[in-house]
Amino acid sequence: MTTNRFNIVVIKGDGIGVDVTNAALEVLEAACRRRRGFALVYSELSGGAAYYRETGREMAPDAEKKAEAADAILLGAIGLPSVRHANGTEVSPHLRLREILQLYAGIRPVKAYPNAPKMLADDRASEIDLVVLRESTEGLFYSAAIHNRSVVIGDEEVRETLKISRATTERLHDFGFRLAQKRKQRGGKGKVTCVDKANVFQSMAFFRKIFHERARFYPDIETSCNYVDAQALDLIRRPWEFDVLVMENMFGDIISDLAGGLVGGMGIACCAEIGDDHGLFQPAHGSAPDIIGQDKANPLAAILSGAMMLDYLHDRSGVEALADAALSIEAAVQRGFSEKRIRPVEYGGDQGTVAVTKAIVDLIRRSDG
Ligand SMILES: NC(=O)c1ccc[n+]([C@@H]2O[C@H](COP(=O)([O-])OP(=O)(O)OC[C@H]3O[C@@H](n4cnc5c(N)ncnc54)[C@H](O)[C@@H]3O)[C@@H](O)[C@H]2O)c1
Repeated sequence: MTTNRFNIVVIKGDGIGVDVTNAALEVLEAACRRRRGFALVYSELSGGAAYYRETGREMAPDAEKKAEAADAILLGAIGLPSVRHANGTEVSPHLRLREILQLYAGIRPVKAYPNAPKMLADDRASEIDLVVLRESTEGLFYSAAIHNRSVVIGDEEVRETLKISRATTERLHDFGFRLAQKRKQRGGKGKVTCVDKANVFQSMAFFRKIFHERARFYPDIETSCNYVDAQALDLIRRPWEFDVLVMENMFGDIISDLAGGLVGGMGIACCAEIGDDHGLFQPAHGSAPDIIGQDKANPLAAILSGAMMLDYLHDRSGVEALADAALSIEAAVQRGFSEKRIRPVEYGGDQGTVAVTKAIVDLIRRSDG
């Protein structure tokens, strides 16, 4: 990236995806307003289950090409359980975007904020600060329905393929080690744990073998391995000991929700999906049909995903003001919790989507003087 004008494609999607994306855009606007030297230019694309119900298409024509040409993609949530294909699966064009754009590194931070609900009684739960790094283009999702790779034998049997390739796994592990180094510079633990099922599956033994091969290039990072079932247990027993957890796609899908639950719920679960040439940013949660239209959605996951987008654009372009804007959002969330100015309904508080967004915008404006 050699520009300071960044084209952002926005896909709000379904259900609360629309509300939380609007919240993220409002906060991005506040964070970027006083920072000079760059501009974010948005263009909105239609897509998702409601769009499919109306048009029979999952995304607007040319949407994939436009997403490919953008500097970053901001997405809300896609899918409604009531809208399904004939094979029983849901509308999920974002999975195709991950594959087309090769967004192999799904980064899902899990951090305990002060005064946010603690699901574990142990005091050390306030120290939880880890990242689930979910491979996002292959694994068991290689044969997700949208890719049409399942082997369907009449109405008797369905076989899915779990793919682990050397090329993607090397890039993923390298990404994980570099992420741990970056976090270490900011006071992180400098550890990467390979989460797999290498005791049973050849694909997973291969995943682990490549982990050890790549680890040799990062001697400053501590390594360990954990089977995914033991990892689920350890996330309840001692989550504060982990830093970066790297894993296959399906394991990451499940483990990241579990980890999000430890620090309050899906409303704080932000996510970046990054490849060598593209980045997509979206909360890890879905369209939350149970709370659609009630102003109950916690927008923080989308807001923090927006901050991750600014950080990514900074990494790619070197424009310092972007990093500054990202930090202003993270600082506002941290301070909002510390000073009890953020009290989402999701956490039993009195603030809906609109009020949480306003509180963050006010905190950013005040810190900017
Ligand atoms: N990446 C995506 O776009 C994505 C991810 C997961 C699910 N989905 C889709 O979303 C739909 C609903 O799926 P689901 O119910 O399994 O998962 P979900 O994440 O939408 O909801 C799970 C639970 O978490 C709550 N929740 C989620 N986000 C919240 C927020 N921001 N604030 C407060 N509470 C929140 C919901 O109310 C619900 O109780 C399905 O159609 C599914 O396919 C999409």
